This record gives sequence, C-alpha cells and structure tokens, in this order.
Amino acid sequence: MTTVRETDDTAASLRAAMVSELREMGVLQSEAVATAVATVPRHLFATGERLEAAYAANKALVIKRDEQGHAMSSLSATHIQVVMLEQAEVEPGMRVLEVGSGGYNAALLAELVGKTGTVVTADIDGEIVKRARACLDAAGYGRVQVVLADADGGVPEHAPFDRIIVTAGAWDIPPAWREQTSERGRLVVPLRMRGITRSFAFDQVGQDLVSASYRLCGFVPMQGSGAYTERLLPVADGVALQVDDQRQAFDTEALAVAVHAPRLEVWSGVSFDLPDELELFLVTSTPQMVMLHGSKALVDQGVLAPSVLRGVPALVAGGSFAYRTKRPNEETGGFESGVFAHGPEAEFVAAQYAELLRRWATDHRRRGAARIRYVPMPEGSAVPSAQIVAKRLGALEVSWS
Ligand SMILES: C[S@@+](CC[C@H](N)C(=O)[O-])C[C@H]1O[C@@H](n2cnc3c(N)ncnc32)[C@H](O)[C@@H]1O
Repeated sequence: MTTVRETDDTAASLRAAMVSELREMGVLQSEAVATAVATVPRHLFATGERLEAAYAANKALVIKRDEQGHAMSSLSATHIQVVMLEQAEVEPGMRVLEVGSGGYNAALLAELVGKTGTVVTADIDGEIVKRARACLDAAGYGRVQVVLADADGGVPEHAPFDRIIVTAGAWDIPPAWREQTSERGRLVVPLRMRGITRSFAFDQVGQDLVSASYRLCGFVPMQGSGAYTERLLPVADGVALQVDDQRQAFDTEALAVAVHAPRLEVWSGVSFDLPDELELFLVTSTPQMVMLHGSKALVDQGVLAPSVLRGVPALVAGGSFAYRTKRPNEETGGFESGVFAHGPEAEFVAAQYAELLRRWATDHRRRGAARIRYVPMPEGSAVPSAQIVAKRLGALEVSWS
C-alpha cells in the first residue's frame, strides 16, 4: 500500500516535471506563475484520478457531464490555465474573481495574490461549489471564497475586482464584468465566435474593451442567463454547418448536392499554418465564413478532407463552399495550404479562400498582429461592417496591422 508520504513525494516530482514541460512549451513565462504551479498540489483537486493524469500538462479532467454525456464542468488543463494566468498578469494584493470553480485555478490565483490579496471563485452549480470548497480546504486554501452564483451578473457583493478570469466559454461580455472591474482592471475571457474560441485579455479603453492578446483554447460553455447555443445546420448525411447567426439563410439542398459533386483543388503556394491566428483571421474576414463539420465516413470515402473532422472554416456562397486543407511540400519538408471547393461556384469561392490564405501568409502570419476591440452596443443594434462579429450586447472588431 502506498503511504501518504510516498504519494506526496511522487506528486512533488510529477509537479516539478510538469513545470519543466510547461517552460519548454514556452507557456510559462513569469516566475510568479511558475512558482504557483510548482506549489499548488493539483492532485488534491483531481480526486479519484491517477497522479500521472493530475499532472499531465495538457489534460483536462471532466468533473461532471450532462445526461447526453457533454462535459458541464472540468478541471481545465494546466496548460490553458497557465496561458490565461500569464494573460492576466496578476500581482500580489489584487482582488480577483474567477468565473467557474474547479478549485485548482483559484488556488493558483491565491498564490499569485498572496496573503494581502483576495480570490473569489463563483460557480453556477451547487455540486461544483461544494466540491471546490472541499478541495480548497483540503489543500490549505481556506482563504479563497467560493460563491454559488450565475456569474453572468458577476459577484457584486465582492466587487470591484482588479482581475476577472472567466473559465467557461462565454458567448458575450455581460455589462457586469465591465462594471465590476476596477478602472485599471483586466478581464480575461475565452470568447466563442463563429465556431472558434480565443482567450482575450481585455483592458478598458473608454467604454470599449481592447485586447492585443489572443490564445487558442476550448472550454465548456457558459450556462445560465449568458448561455447561447450555436446553430448546427445539417446539410447532408455526415455534413453540418455550425453557424452563430440564427437567421442566416443557407441553400442546404444545393449544398447537399455540392458535397457529392466533383471537387476543385486549388493550391495557394504558401505554407500551411497552425489554426491559432489563421482561423481568427479567417472567421472574422466575412460572415460567409462558417464552421464546416464532416464525418469520418466521408473523409474515409475521400469526399471531404480530414480538416473537417474537428471543424474547419468554410466559405459558403449559395450552393457552393470552399475550405482549407494541406498537402506535403517536398521542397520544404512541411505542408502547403490549399483549398477544396464544391458546387457550381467552386472556382469563385476557392479563389476567394486561397486569396485569404495568401494574404494571411504575406501580411500577418505569426506576427501577433491582431487587435481585438469589444464595443458594447444596445441589444438588437445593426453591426456597421461585415468584418465585425455581432454579439448580443455588443460587437467584436478584429483588426490586423
Ligand atoms: C472549465 S470549468 C472551471 C474550471 C476551473 N476554473 C478550474 O480550476 O479548473 C467551468 C465551470 O464554469 C461553470 N459555469 C458555467 N456557467 C456559469 C455561470 N453562468 N456562472 C458561474 N459558473 C458557471 C460550470 O459549472 C463549470 O464548473
């Protein structure tokens, strides 16, 4: 039988290895966050899991599922927690609100704010609140306050906050998060838009929020009054479009025919890139860009490229669509990005898409060049331009220098 001492020793060495791994990945950047990760016993927040799973840098652990088996609450992967803590730049003495409670991230925050700071973590689910409280107490973080609340309204009784860190996939930015952030405060939030999620680090600029930071992430969706379900539009057997706008019209019959029509292949001449920045660029370039999902069966039959399996931005015009794919580049040893297009206007949509890929490669690639501005707007306002992503309570503008 393993003794408590042996478990603690193994946990300590796995924790040290995780810190080294996160440094090597380049996500751990500040000594403060590294020290917090090296200190907090993550396994005490991952009860029932093997130590190796608790200390796997890239592994999220599901805590609760709904009746259909979808994750409702999880202990997020340390990797993404570190990314967001680095975005937040938490300092000793700060007041921090965490939206969504697994306990572990709140403990990391408690290390970062120190004894003079305050951490409040709020969850909409009573069971999760109880669990987070128990784990925090067991790990020695009794000073973290755990609150049961729909945090779409923030936690006004503990406001203002120097930092609000949202750890569920938000559809929009409710006014409470802006109002409860102090003047020089920062809101770190994974925002869902047009089928992708990026974590932004917003600072207030007048009434607007502005972020120069955007990091790839995935989170369970927000529940409660801020919940939003994207539309999943079936097109053909094994093919669906994921669309933000509930009213956007699509010619699904024509698209269904296009799926099985011969495809056009256009190669861009530029190298393939990871989705981090490129997909933010693509999905915010035009509202015609929606997320295409396809089944493994259609990929195995050669009808669609493997990029559809995880969802890929697709440009849809009438009964035609185009999406990105890749092929090996013998000269560079890497991959070339290209476009597969189907339908009567395949040439047109493929050319448009390939042009976006080229523009990305020549002007913006891996330069951290995007600036994201969230502009609060009265509900139902018309958005002024096609590049602006409409939200319920505002609009998101992404510009590239
Ligand atoms: C990914 S988990 C949180 C992970 C956690 N921060 C950690 O330390 O790993 C997301 C949590 O957000 C909670 N949540 C969803 N909608 C919420 C809302 N409107 N208000 C507060 N919590 C919410 C869920 O119940 C879930 O527990």
